[in-house]
Amino acid sequence: MNAQASAEPLIARANEISQAVREHLDRNDSVRIISHLDADGLAAASIMGKAIRRYGAPFHIRIAKQLDEETVSEIAREKPSLAIFSDFGSGYLDLLFKSLPNVDIVVLDHHQPSDISTPSSVKHLNPHLFGLDGAREISAAGVSYVLAKEIDARNVDLSALSVVGALGDLQDKNQKRELRGLNEMIVRDGVNSGRLRVETDLILYGRETRPLHKAMASTTNPFIPGLSGEEDESFKFLVKNVGLELKVEERWRTLADLTEDEKQRLFTQIVRHLLQRKLPPEISKNLQGSVYTLTGEDKWTPLRDAREYASLLNACGRMGKFGLGVSIGLGSRGRVLDESQEVLSQYRRTLADYMRVLATGERVTERKSLYHVNGEGLIEEKMLGAVASLLSTSGVFSEEKPLLATTAAASGDIKISARASDHQREKGLNLNAVMMEAAEKFSGRGGGHDVAAGAMIPRSSLEQFIDEADSIIEKMLKGRQK
Ligand code: C5P
Repeated sequence: MNAQASAEPLIARANEISQAVREHLDRNDSVRIISHLDADGLAAASIMGKAIRRYGAPFHIRIAKQLDEETVSEIAREKPSLAIFSDFGSGYLDLLFKSLPNVDIVVLDHHQPSDISTPSSVKHLNPHLFGLDGAREISAAGVSYVLAKEIDARNVDLSALSVVGALGDLQDKNQKRELRGLNEMIVRDGVNSGRLRVETDLILYGRETRPLHKAMASTTNPFIPGLSGEEDESFKFLVKNVGLELKVEERWRTLADLTEDEKQRLFTQIVRHLLQRKLPPEISKNLQGSVYTLTGEDKWTPLRDAREYASLLNACGRMGKFGLGVSIGLGSRGRVLDESQEVLSQYRRTLADYMRVLATGERVTERKSLYHVNGEGLIEEKMLGAVASLLSTSGVFSEEKPLLATTAAASGDIKISARASDHQREKGLNLNAVMMEAAEKFSGRGGGHDVAAGAMIPRSSLEQFIDEADSIIEKMLKGRQK
């Protein structure tokens, strides 16, 4: 079945939900959009916000690091008529249903739902309900986009922001670094509406805008130990190993200025660099693929490249600057953009500092079926997911085992971020199930996707939780081998 055909049931459901949403908007009801703090969550909230603004109705956006009882009871106190949850909610339908009895609830999510049955008063839009893959085929921004387009066909111009969300959630994790499935359909909308351009190239951060050594050092997906986050080392590498001229007269060259031959040399030397460090050279494959350009954005801003836009949103969310992220998504530029770029620099410095400490290996314990990275006293709760993702692309851990990073949450509990490779997924690993099952055993809550999931558990159960996860993973992988 092609992507369009398999999307039809999802689109039909979006159409039904759009009618209910429009009724609220027509009445100028009080509408709350509640979304997750990462790039996909911020893009999803911005898409819904822009669609409602275009409709001429008022709305209010709230960003949260997770959906929990406290967040939901705060929303209950605000007594909205319509509450739209994006990028979380599918694992919390019971909580929403019980805590918001007189509120019309819409959930736009792409995480694996905890329970397939949805209370009738909740309007639930999730690709998994239609047999589609929410980890790779469509993100929360994509689901929001599908609904926005049903609200008003003019919202096709929001497709570009949906691509930003999908890339923020690393949905391009494949050999060609391209968006596939329903995302591909959304990309097509972007191209057809003149909002997006797609080409194949090396994927360095700041392809058209940053001096090469800065672009190399700013590239963190994939994370290349010794170069990512290391500007001086990147400079030396490009001049000595690759033999590149970094400046022409007084102007720094960018990746876009290189000849094909120079790009090839650069790629070859990155592979050598990885081999010298005994790291898997396959990491370098992630440096080539589809590049998505937002043609409506100014050329010299990070919003021009969809992956850079996603990094900017992620930085705003992970550094707690939710308002900035939402403002960018809703279209503010100028001073707001300058401020968000400052936040991005800070975010990058913080990540590089974390990675330097973690590279010593002192905080890593290898268990039978997983690696445990102890981030307590080092990694801030909101940054844990980003650090776990970076570690999982750095090649420093074996492909055979997933990693679980843990740190203290502000609530006093322990937050866990788990990441696995596609190789492990193909062998039968599903981190969503691992996190859900192990967290429930210790009165915590967990969930997510097969290759990226998280949990929150009481501090006293940390060791037992890791043991439990270790044994569930072992069984899961063994079960498949039989
Ligand atoms: O927090 P972290 O980035 O590690 O989460 C990984 C993925 O799992 C995210 O998409 C997050 O929304 C999801 N998650 C979840 N339920 C939890 C914790 C995380 O669905 N309790």
